Amino acid sequence: MNTLTVDLGDRSYPITIERGGLRRAGTLLNLRRRVLLVTDSGVPPVYSETVAAACDNVFRTVIPQGEATKSLASAQGLWELMLDNGFSRGDCVVAVGGGMCGDLAGFAAACYMRGIAFYNIPTTLLSQVDSSIGGKTAVDLNGVKNIIGTFYQPHAVLIDPDVLETLPCRLRAEGMIEAVKMALVFDAELFDRLTEAQDPYADLDDVLSRVLALKQTVVEQDERDTGRRNLLNFGHTLGHGVESASRGALYHGECVGLGMLPMCSPSVRERLLRFLERLGAPVIWRGDTAAVWQAVLHDKKLSESGINAVFVDEPGRGYLRRIQPEELRSRLEGAWKS
Ligand code: GLY
Repeated sequence: MNTLTVDLGDRSYPITIERGGLRRAGTLLNLRRRVLLVTDSGVPPVYSETVAAACDNVFRTVIPQGEATKSLASAQGLWELMLDNGFSRGDCVVAVGGGMCGDLAGFAAACYMRGIAFYNIPTTLLSQVDSSIGGKTAVDLNGVKNIIGTFYQPHAVLIDPDVLETLPCRLRAEGMIEAVKMALVFDAELFDRLTEAQDPYADLDDVLSRVLALKQTVVEQDERDTGRRNLLNFGHTLGHGVESASRGALYHGECVGLGMLPMCSPSVRERLLRFLERLGAPVIWRGDTAAVWQAVLHDKKLSESGINAVFVDEPGRGYLRRIQPEELRSRLEGAWKS
């Protein structure tokens, strides 16, 4: 077991990384109150049932898997469930699922009675290494992702690596891509270790602890994402464009992998490319580059005055640089050449 603490004054919280931790949810979290337990249809039911068994007064709801569920209508459904069942300020919401589930449940918790306790139990590698930490909660509106939301830190995060046993390979790989992103931006030694390991998943608990410690520090330094936290967007500017152009065919982490390649120096790019290939992730976007560019242009952060993009010339030394749309476009057009 390893516990990290995100130090944000009166909004500080523990991140517990513990194999079998799910079965200790009743000890690690305060579940002796009304609990709204939110999971999604893609998560093996046994995980939320295990947590439910530790609660005295639980309302378990299974929301449909997929981004379409991350809506105000779904949030309203959760609020109504709480209201109809007499939830008060002292009660709590628990998410057991991936990023979509955590974002929605966290948003519902943030707004109900102006904020009730929220515990996040992420069940995908992607959400364990990234979205479960740092308090970004949101829903989508009119096709725009995460446009309605708030910073609302969880009251605790419980990470049980055992739940990854049931995770399909492709989902495991997309989580590993986010982990290598963190290493590329902040931790050269971790990048060496991941890229040189025979099996990058072999020492997963330790990798999780290291990546989470990196994210913890960044969140402590820039909770509201006005500076250093922007570095976590490495690979996302072009990656979001690919994600949108792929219309769901590629996973988020896979798109981030593709989006990082054009933003690296040639030597880093080569190492990253080999690593992505080993994970079985795509290294070439075979679709229409114009569609990616259109999607990038629609990204709310790109204006005529340019965009702050993240670059990595040397592992562990990610940096932000303002670039003009033309440079981004030429990187996009030169990208993914075999
Ligand atoms: N997932 C990026 C962030 O937490 O800022």
